[in-house]
Amino acid sequence: MLIKKTIASDPKSFEITSRSTYLKRRDFLKGGAALAGAMMFPWSLQAALPKKIPNLVKSPFSTDEPVNKYDDVTGYNNFYEFGTGKSDPYSNSGDFKSRPWSVTVDGLCDKPGQLDIEDLMSKFQQEERIYRMRCVEAWSMVIPWVGVQLSSILNKFEPNSKAKYVEFTTLVDPEQFPGQKYPIIPWPYREGLRMDEAMHPLTVMATGIFGEELPPQNGAPLRLVVPWKYGFKGIKSIVRIRFVEKQPVSTWMTAGPNEYGFYANVNPEVDHPRWSQAKERRIGEFLRRPTLPFNGYGEEVADLYKGMDLRKFF
Ligand code: MTE
Repeated sequence: MLIKKTIASDPKSFEITSRSTYLKRRDFLKGGAALAGAMMFPWSLQAALPKKIPNLVKSPFSTDEPVNKYDDVTGYNNFYEFGTGKSDPYSNSGDFKSRPWSVTVDGLCDKPGQLDIEDLMSKFQQEERIYRMRCVEAWSMVIPWVGVQLSSILNKFEPNSKAKYVEFTTLVDPEQFPGQKYPIIPWPYREGLRMDEAMHPLTVMATGIFGEELPPQNGAPLRLVVPWKYGFKGIKSIVRIRFVEKQPVSTWMTAGPNEYGFYANVNPEVDHPRWSQAKERRIGEFLRRPTLPFNGYGEEVADLYKGMDLRKFF
């Protein structure tokens, strides 16, 4: 994002476990764990295994474009709490604990309370949604998310008519997030959506990828996915959701007000001050492709911004 990434920070093939090696290792661990039975620390092995999410339904909102490789989706990430390099989140998140976890939901609503991750997993229908994702750094991926439509979560807390925006906040825990020991960006990471954006059927609270619970580097145990906006809107490891009247100030608006706006709608006509947004590199492809307005979701979302000057409200 704001900080220039060097090639050296990009993931090297030997740093990333391939999907097949990973699966073999997983089977090996499973076998080992079963054998170990009463041996020491079996729970630590179990904790390391990603869990399959049962009873998934497929979403009609999915794209049929080819999905990116598991290794790209889990090895090339932005998650500054784990470091600023693209492979840091993979390398530094092995001990991250995403259980127990609950999210405080409060502000301008009639039923403030807690959202427990176990309830979210068991009481809400988990859907697979394959979305194109576009990062502000001009690369993109197609990711098979698992998640719950955000509106169905928010409605449980009964936002009232004063609620115009929703603010999201990430966990602060420098012991688990080594990046938070340094003021790289203002902590905690914060994001926001206008109420109608938050309630839009495309907006998802993701709990998994590739049919399994989210790995830490992708935002375990729950993170936002808004496919028509630049990736930085997709705040990870959320601990608070607040209904508010005024437009929230997001982390990147504070860190780089001339570079990152509140709306962050993918717009090939509005350049980032330091680079063009007209094209993107789909990870895994050689040639760059043209970027589509609203990341190709214009038919579904353009109406939300009718009458707004999207150069001003970037
Ligand atoms: N959330 C938190 N808490 N911290 C971050 O640094 N980075 C954002 C977003 N969410 C970030 C975050 C950015 S810049 C991007 S592009 C996406 O996460 C990347 O999500 P992915 O790694 O799952 O592709």
